[in-house]
Amino acid sequence: MERVIWNGVPWFDRDGNVVNAHGACIVREGDVYYLFGEYKTNDENRYNGFSCYSTRDFEDWKFEGMALSAEAGGLLGPGRIGERVKVVKSAVTGKYVMLMHTDDLNYSDPCIGVAVCDTINGSYTFAGPLLYKGEKVRKWDMGTFVDEDGTAYLLTHEGNIYRLNAECTEAEELVAENIAPGGESPAMCRYGGKYYIMFSQKTSWERNDNYYLTADNIAGPWVMKGLFCPEGSLTYNTQCSYIFDCQTAEGSIKMYLGDRWSYPRQASAATLVMLPLAFEGGNMRISRYMQAWRPADGSEWREPCIRPLAFCSDVKGEGRQAEFCVSGGRVYLFGAASDEGGYCRVEIRNSEGRAVNEAVIDFYSAVPMKGLRYVSPELKSGEYTLCVTALGESGEWFQKDGTRFGSKGRRVDIYGFAAEPDSIEKDC
Ligand code: DGJ
Repeated sequence: MERVIWNGVPWFDRDGNVVNAHGACIVREGDVYYLFGEYKTNDENRYNGFSCYSTRDFEDWKFEGMALSAEAGGLLGPGRIGERVKVVKSAVTGKYVMLMHTDDLNYSDPCIGVAVCDTINGSYTFAGPLLYKGEKVRKWDMGTFVDEDGTAYLLTHEGNIYRLNAECTEAEELVAENIAPGGESPAMCRYGGKYYIMFSQKTSWERNDNYYLTADNIAGPWVMKGLFCPEGSLTYNTQCSYIFDCQTAEGSIKMYLGDRWSYPRQASAATLVMLPLAFEGGNMRISRYMQAWRPADGSEWREPCIRPLAFCSDVKGEGRQAEFCVSGGRVYLFGAASDEGGYCRVEIRNSEGRAVNEAVIDFYSAVPMKGLRYVSPELKSGEYTLCVTALGESGEWFQKDGTRFGSKGRRVDIYGFAAEPDSIEKDC
């Protein structure tokens, strides 16, 4: 079966647990892709470790374990933040080096940290702060970029680019400075000899219109190019996190990896989005949003026949159920996300009433979005019940200066579901 990337819905690993990896990066080794990300909690924002998952197709995810767990003390100890984990391989030592943003819970003590491991999917050893000229690099949002000659760079918010030493454990040279004032979550790639760097604006976990700059030389001059997604789409409701090379039947493509945050239920309900980047005449864009697509050939997944299932509620405990049969496949839930959206619990129960999968789904989006809200893992042939329950809660969070973000309501708004392959007669 051709594998599909399901955008903006929780992914499940081989054990049926939600893939919990955010502010992530993807590193390819042969034909295996390793995803490293923030292993979030559902109630607070403290550092809870960095996870590692592997996949060959972006649909079948194996949990490799915690790449780095919470430390007993220090930069990643109790009461600290660990974000935006990125992994590079030193061309000289062959070791894997993890860089991350460490901070206190008020984001007032930022410092880039380093951890090292001999194997990509092993347990990384925290080495302390990344130094530049003997000083800590006191930056928060960060990313990495590895050039075609193997040289690795640290990218930071506001647009500083540091060349790392050959071991990737120190910053050796500040090659570009302040190229994107106000920019966060930097991600970079090189295409056709040109460098492309993207940033989000500073709106905390809220999505905004991300933008990019280009240069012929990594040291600049950098030219502001504007948005790479349609204005007002809030970068298709994502925040950029990373760009990686992805092998498809048509060759290697540059893949955009973005976060759709869901504070405070980041562990369960924050999701990832992957879309191909297109380049033409020195410009970069994501041509269109695809809620699900096949990386093998770039084709968009076509929605199956949707059976009506109307449920709209903001009352905790209110729910709706639907029975379905599936002959070895998935069940999909469709709904509308809006700025009044809240959380719901989805449960798939088998014919004995046992939950075989569960998820928390966020119906909040500052820009309205209709479509897929949940995709089950592959189910064995049989009869099931799909249970949807409103939690009467929604995401809400505050920026340092007190600005409130998040939903104005708690609404769960579902319009249909589908099972595929479906053993029930279709009526549409
Ligand atoms: C925006 C950053 O990009 C995220 O990584 C995170 O630090 C949030 N701010 C916290 O508000």
